[in-house]
Amino acid sequence: MVKIAPSILSADFAKLGSEVLEIKRGGADYVHFDVMDGEFVPNISMGIPVLKSLRKATDMFLDVHLMIDRPIRYVEAFCSAGADLVTFHVEADTQENILAAIRKTRELGKKTGITLKPGTPVEAVEPFLSEVDLVLVMTVEPGFGGQSFMEDQLPKISRLRQLLDQVNPDCELEVDGGVDVRTAPLCVRAGANVLVAGSSVFGKTDRAEAIAALRGE
Ligand code: DX5
Ligand code: ZN
Repeated sequence: MVKIAPSILSADFAKLGSEVLEIKRGGADYVHFDVMDGEFVPNISMGIPVLKSLRKATDMFLDVHLMIDRPIRYVEAFCSAGADLVTFHVEADTQENILAAIRKTRELGKKTGITLKPGTPVEAVEPFLSEVDLVLVMTVEPGFGGQSFMEDQLPKISRLRQLLDQVNPDCELEVDGGVDVRTAPLCVRAGANVLVAGSSVFGKTDRAEAIAALRGE
C-alpha cells in the first residue's frame, strides 16, 4: 500500500504536537519535515530545535528533507535530534560530499535519501541509488508548499523506478510537491510508493479523510 507522508510545512506551528497526533490517528505513515536555510531555497522554515521537540512528542517516523547548502555540516545534529531518515539534495554540494553525508548518516544508524530538483536530470542521482533507502522526486521547485504539481516530472519517476528495480529494489520512491487526489494516482502509476502531501492534508479539516483519499480509499 502506498505510504502517506504529510508535510508539516503546511501545519499550524503553534500547535504542532496536536497536528502530528491528528495525522497519526488519521493513518499517516511518516511525518515529512522540511528544513530550509534561505540559501539553497528562497525560504526559511524550521530546524534542529523543532525536530528535537517533535521527537519527544511523537513516535512517528520522521522523514527529514534537508533543503540546505552543504548539508554534511549538520548530519550529526539532525541525526541526534531524532531524524529517522535524512534526505539530501544532490545539488547542495559536490558528489563526494553528498556521498560522505549519506554514509555518515548510515553510520549513525539512520536511513538516508537522495533528492533532485525538477530541473536536475536522473543521471545526477544514479551514483547514489545503491547507497540510499529512499529517492525523492521533487514535483515543484523546492521552497514553498501549495504549488502546482509539475506533470513533466512523471517520466523521471518511471525512469527511477526502472533503475531502482535493477540496482536497489527495496529502495522507496517518494514524490514531493503538489500531490493531491488528482495527482496522487499519477505518481503511483509511475512507480512511487511514498507520497508527501502538505496542503492536501493540513489544508483539510478532516485529516483522516484527506489521507485516505490520497491513498485512493
Ligand atoms: C517544498 C517542500 C514540500 C512541501 C509540499 O519545498 O519540500 O514538502 O511542503 O507542499 P505541498 O504538498 O502543499 O505541495
Ligand atoms: Zn519536502
